[in-house]
Amino acid sequence: MAEQAGGGISNVMREERVFPPSAEFAAQARIKSMEEYEALWTQAAADPPKFWADLARDELHWFEPFSKALVWNEPVAEWFVGGKTNACYNCVDKHVVEGRGDRTAIIWEGEPGDQRTLTYAELQTEVSKCANALKSLGIGVGDVVSIYMPMTPELAIAMLACARIGAVHSVIFAGFSAEAIADRNNDAGAKLVITSDGAWRRGKVLPLKETVDEALAKSPTVEHCLVLKRAGDAPTMQEGRDVWWHDVVDSASADCPAEPLDSETPLFILYTSGSTGKPKGIKHTTAGYNLYAKKTFEWVFDHRDDDIYWCTADCGWITGHSYIVYGPLAAGAQVMMYEGAPNHPAEDRFWDIIERHKVTIFYTAPTAIRAFIKWGDDLVKKHDLTSLRILGTVGEGINPEAWMWYHRMIGGERCPIVDTWWQTETGGIMMSPLPGAIPTKPGSCTKPLPGIIPSIVGTDGQEVDTNQGGMLTIAHPWPGMLRGIWGDMDRYEQVYWSRVKGKYLAGDNARCDEDGYYWIMGRIDDVLNVSGHRLSTIEIESALVSHAAVAEAAAVGRPHELKGDAVAVFVTLCDAEPTEELREELRQHVRKEIGALAVPDDIRFTSSLPKTRSGKIMRRLLRDIAAGREAAGDTTTLEDYTVLAKLREKEA
Ligand code: WT7
Repeated sequence: MAEQAGGGISNVMREERVFPPSAEFAAQARIKSMEEYEALWTQAAADPPKFWADLARDELHWFEPFSKALVWNEPVAEWFVGGKTNACYNCVDKHVVEGRGDRTAIIWEGEPGDQRTLTYAELQTEVSKCANALKSLGIGVGDVVSIYMPMTPELAIAMLACARIGAVHSVIFAGFSAEAIADRNNDAGAKLVITSDGAWRRGKVLPLKETVDEALAKSPTVEHCLVLKRAGDAPTMQEGRDVWWHDVVDSASADCPAEPLDSETPLFILYTSGSTGKPKGIKHTTAGYNLYAKKTFEWVFDHRDDDIYWCTADCGWITGHSYIVYGPLAAGAQVMMYEGAPNHPAEDRFWDIIERHKVTIFYTAPTAIRAFIKWGDDLVKKHDLTSLRILGTVGEGINPEAWMWYHRMIGGERCPIVDTWWQTETGGIMMSPLPGAIPTKPGSCTKPLPGIIPSIVGTDGQEVDTNQGGMLTIAHPWPGMLRGIWGDMDRYEQVYWSRVKGKYLAGDNARCDEDGYYWIMGRIDDVLNVSGHRLSTIEIESALVSHAAVAEAAAVGRPHELKGDAVAVFVTLCDAEPTEELREELRQHVRKEIGALAVPDDIRFTSSLPKTRSGKIMRRLLRDIAAGREAAGDTTTLEDYTVLAKLREKEA
């Protein structure tokens, strides 16, 4: 294998298993065959603005119709120009108005075991009250509201209440520090923070309000703090600044019609970390995002009225925005929401929830699946999971071995797995199997959704032979795409639009196989260059994870005089002992699975890997450790700082 023109990546992983949907599943699906999918995709690709405009007219409620589908002045997109709509109306009122008010909207379970169910009509009442309370605190169109809350129904209610009155929410994951909250408040100029007295996590109470107080000392733009009573903590309430939710929301009027808003009214900001520099406030707007979240939800999860749908993400991430709140609720789904940890009171909490609530669609992340595998099959086998019909995964590539476990143990070899590739920036799923139409291959996100046109380019920006792999770009704007970085349009242009002209640069590498299936190969910056061969992290990691002793693996390049990069891997083990023999066995295993090129030069056993708070392995930090450097760049998104310290200690 030689370095390919245009910077291709050596394609060394051989995954040949294919899993078509059962005939029975396909017969009942929204999109029933590959032919049907291809016809839809081709029709959409011929004229994307027309395709999306037709859907927008049918699927959203318009106070005033739009006059133009798309105005595109690269890199600025405006969708459904001239129209007026409201995302909260589409998610809540529309169902009530159309006679579905008694339908269940949210089925919630708290970590201590308390439960609540809200119908769409009840949700409308709660959201309207909250919206009136926000108004009474001086919030109106264009004001930014930071939300730092546990996964309670009130978190979704607060988001929707902002949308209802045209305020812009900025949800901050409730595991972030005071410093991170203050940074986000200041960057966005937030006027209000909504939080709670505390949050349940593994049986303990995290003092959220205390953390917010610390942040507010450094957040001059924030005028008020609205506090939900959740965990029974008794926080100090600052006179004139802080108000209790039960004081101002419960007594507010339930009459608050949704504000007709221009299609491009900002809906929310969501901060995501860059590899260096300060977090980027990704900006999404009203109509395009709402439509994209709704349609992708319906296509990918093949949503039906009798489904009980559960996405285990937190609303602090884009997955929670698009696939707990805006997508499923716009589709009128019955949404399961869980507050706490997957291992409280025991490591079978998720299986217990699925069994008791008869969940039919389950959407989670590879990092969680790897933890389930480690926790053991016995815990799964105790539960009846036959209500499930579709499984999903998002956030990282899934190693084929983890995919197979998910398929067998959780899906009972019956449920299609939708491996969904997308980003905070894309607003919704971009590539994924359609469960009734597209046969799956473990480790591949398969095909682009209708209206999405991927293009794989080399380092020179020209299209390459797709099977070789290169940088993944998207060739045409889509309604769910980000509209900018909050307060920094130059950075927006520079990060996503400057390297490849006319295409959105996703920042991932990918290849497309002879069947037109896409394989995400990791972040562009994570690629290893071993003696002129570009190797992807996921291939080496998947080879290691396919060994019975290995639980998780991370592969990075370490500078090497002769090879360019040496392959350094960090490995966590299931039950095995970290011996020299095992090290040699793993080298042989990688040689057999991939080839001599990928055999690790360094294998380090560790008890855990550094991850972001959303569960992604932070290879950037491991690269520094492998090279014996101090970790550079932003580490504020690291989930557990002690992991880094432990890894360094081993160095000394
Ligand atoms: C990055 C985006 C999308 C919501 C959660 C993460 C990686 C995401 C997959 C997948 C391989 C994936 C990519 C992407 N990623 N899904 N199915 N297969 N990689 O959102 O924090 O904005 O991260 O996550 O590298 O660029 P995010």
